[in-house]
Amino acid sequence: MPINVDKTADRISENNAIHFSETRLLDYQVLNNFFKMHNWIQRTENKWHDIINESYIVCTSWDKDKLIGTGRSMPQDRFCVFYDVAVHPDYERRGIGAKIIDIRVKDARDRKYSRVYAFVDAREPLLLFYEAMGFEKANLGGKKLNVYFMRKDIC
Ligand SMILES: CC(C)(COP(=O)(O)OP(=O)(O)OC[C@H]1O[C@@H](n2cnc3c(N)ncnc32)[C@H](O)[C@@H]1OP(=O)(O)O)[C@@H](O)C(=O)NCCC(=O)NCCS
Repeated sequence: MPINVDKTADRISENNAIHFSETRLLDYQVLNNFFKMHNWIQRTENKWHDIINESYIVCTSWDKDKLIGTGRSMPQDRFCVFYDVAVHPDYERRGIGAKIIDIRVKDARDRKYSRVYAFVDAREPLLLFYEAMGFEKANLGGKKLNVYFMRKDIC
């Protein structure tokens, strides 16, 4: 499956190469290779297909045609939940993760949510990042999985 970067969905351009997209036409091997860098979950093509279809928004960031950031949100019960935030190690601390959060917060507001949640891997950089984005740890935890459920009010 080809990577189709939807230029019309670009949100910002730090330079002429880095941009953001909401395309759903994503190559699952590119996604898996990207998450492998973070020792994160590997998914089959069918699984990627399902979760992309079930997501409200799939946000990616690109440096030309190189995937450098991801994040998506999806409905879960009556909540809007953020998943899969990751930024390429060579591109950290440039505001890419924050922009990916902003895009999904705006999308959740447009969908009339007043609060969003995130499943957050309990590694410290991610927790600190989400706290910097205004999230706080919620009571609902997933300690067995070593993840935190974090929330942010967006109204
Ligand atoms: C956490 C992560 C998403 C941050 O992305 P990023 O683009 O580097 O973050 P930003 O530049 O937007 O940072 C925004 C703020 O978050 C905080 N922050 C980000 N990374 C941090 C870190 N490593 N330590 C402490 N605070 C951090 C800072 O307050 C930062 O603002 P500042 O740079 O002005 O100080 C990225 O480091 C990452 O992908 N880590 C691995 C995540 C992972 O394993 N995901 C698997 C799927 S869940």
